[in-house]
Amino acid sequence: MKENIPRQTFLLSKRWQLTEEKSINGMGVDASVYKNLYPHLFQPLRLKGLIMKNRIMSAPNMLFHTVDGRPTQYYISYLEHKARGGAGLVTLGEIAVCDGASHTPPMQWTWDNLPLFGEMAAAIHEHGALAAVELVHGGMRANPRYNTVPIKGPVACVNHLGAEVQAMTVEDMEHVADAFAEAAAFWYHAGFDAVLIHAAHGWLIPQFLSPLINKRTDEYGGSLENRMRFPLAILRRVRERVGDSKVIMLRLSGSERHPEGFTTDDIIAFLEKAQQYVDLAEISTEGVTNYFAITYSPWGQNVELAAAIKAAGKINIPIFTIGSIMSPEQAEDIIASGKADGVSMSRALLADPFLPKKAALGRADDIVPCLRCLNCTDSDNARRHLVCSVNPLIGREARLGFADTIGKANRRLKVLVAGGGPAGMQAAVTAGERGHNVILCEKSDSLGGLLKLLSRDSLKKDLRRFLEYLLRRVAVAGVEVRLNTEVNRELVAAEAPDAVIVAVGSLPLVPDSIKGIEKAKHITSAYQEPDSAARKNIVIIGGGLAGVESGLHLANLGKKVTVLEMLPDYATEAGNVYRLGLQAKAKEFGLTIITGARCLEVADGSVRYKKDGRESEVECDAVYYATGMVSYTEPYFDLADTAPFVIPVGDCKQAGKIDGAIHSGYFAALDLGML
Ligand SMILES: Cc1cc2nc3c(=O)[nH]c(=O)nc-3n(C[C@H](O)[C@H](O)[C@H](O)COP(=O)(O)O)c2cc1C
Repeated sequence: MKENIPRQTFLLSKRWQLTEEKSINGMGVDASVYKNLYPHLFQPLRLKGLIMKNRIMSAPNMLFHTVDGRPTQYYISYLEHKARGGAGLVTLGEIAVCDGASHTPPMQWTWDNLPLFGEMAAAIHEHGALAAVELVHGGMRANPRYNTVPIKGPVACVNHLGAEVQAMTVEDMEHVADAFAEAAAFWYHAGFDAVLIHAAHGWLIPQFLSPLINKRTDEYGGSLENRMRFPLAILRRVRERVGDSKVIMLRLSGSERHPEGFTTDDIIAFLEKAQQYVDLAEISTEGVTNYFAITYSPWGQNVELAAAIKAAGKINIPIFTIGSIMSPEQAEDIIASGKADGVSMSRALLADPFLPKKAALGRADDIVPCLRCLNCTDSDNARRHLVCSVNPLIGREARLGFADTIGKANRRLKVLVAGGGPAGMQAAVTAGERGHNVILCEKSDSLGGLLKLLSRDSLKKDLRRFLEYLLRRVAVAGVEVRLNTEVNRELVAAEAPDAVIVAVGSLPLVPDSIKGIEKAKHITSAYQEPDSAARKNIVIIGGGLAGVESGLHLANLGKKVTVLEMLPDYATEAGNVYRLGLQAKAKEFGLTIITGARCLEVADGSVRYKKDGRESEVECDAVYYATGMVSYTEPYFDLADTAPFVIPVGDCKQAGKIDGAIHSGYFAALDLGML
């Protein structure tokens, strides 16, 4: 049943236009009245005998949710969620092809476990997507912990884990090529439509392609032709084993991004030969900080590699590209401009698996933006269950349901939210969407909290997008917003809500043992003060994530920034991969970070510190401290007895990063009404 709802009640993407005034249904739009704004993105693609319904590949994202090598229901539902969101193809990540190949705990793809893998493929197929599986061999970067045979690669060496690596013999190569072929046959049998052979990110195949690594003196090393020999043999073996009708895809680095590494021309030459065996190539890149570009990096970092490969005019198979493809507009432009034939998205679809469906419905404004904070990768690397900062559901569908199945609460409650930062906004949005009657109070004159300040960071476009998204969601979730309103006992008594969600944030920890600290300001002031050209030399006391990231922002504004950190290392609370990106940026921006430096005094025009028993001084014209935040809990304790449910969320509950704010706000609101 369609209702006649006035058009202006919907926040539609600017790129969608009504061709005529017609009724709009609750899902957004009557498709007949819209013109397709992403015609290239939603053009189907034929892959052998299969149809990929659009040009969006959900990239491989392994989940560590396995037990004894078997996927759990969490894993199956996670893949289903991605398919449910509308991607044309969903890829199961990193299946090691044989003993000796694993760099992570391997999935046991034995015949006994076949029904579980079949279920993975079925869960993807049920939503009209193609199911692909990525096959990998870690080569010299395999982890001895997860293999029973010696680690082998192109050359003998000691790997990044300190493990002895043996050079592969020709027999070893034969064995590995057979293993890829056997694995492909197995996974097609399990019901998967395609295999994606991993020839990127430093694993076995790029190890052989790399002139930096592959110093073999036999016919498998040296010249490009020799370095390609084994990778091509693998592809040929797979094709021979599975026959012409099956879809084989390649995840390939378009460049080694090193002056002496393989070039895009090398890759074109490789693909020219490989294309007889494979049906599609997805172009990524080498170097972990390159393929996992963090929030400071430009979007679409590999698009130009794909474009160069296409422009060579020698490759006849579809070329996809991956790497910070964050919006349907961006994806459409890439394909429309002929730079690639399709896109592959990883983090953007973790943040919102429904990106494709929302784009198709003209609801791009509703897509949850990825922050490229790498919380996902770092939780993944730490082998915890996947955590996305902005999508509390991802990976937990088996327990919580899918984003489109969480409906209205079974009871409509009156909810008062105190504090309009990220946690408060998220709680208000989720409560509003669940049908509760929500009042969101903010004591300042605008919503956003800390996010409002931090999103002014000159380098954090992704964070700004997220704030704008939250503000839009608040506007459409039926939430009554009261600015300049502090929640106190009187207000709660007057409103008589069923629940009060307390999201009043945190307070800076002032390092008051430092002499003269009153001359310094909290780091948030750096985002509030109008930029003064007079302030040229800045010292930040505290080299945690907040101090270092703010330092990057100030350096980007042209300041000379010195960060003093007491610990032996900086930004230690950042995950490994994010930290690598941060380190690269700190170097690029000429940020001086002095670790092991205990700050002694903030004087006029300088800061005195002690390192290795010696006192030193840095001259400066502004000093900020970023020495931590502490939960602001008083309002919570004050309000705790004012309503049946009084729930602290965000920094008020535990001072931390954005994921804590979003998740606690979301779950507090989700929990309401379950009586
Ligand atoms: C949580 C997580 C797991 C990943 N697992 C895999 C994997 O199993 N295989 C793989 O080739 N790449 C994996 N990647 C890398 C992505 O496929 C992709 O190359 C990378 O995230 C860059 O794309 P993006 O900018 O769209 O996120 C993973 C990435 C994330 C964030």
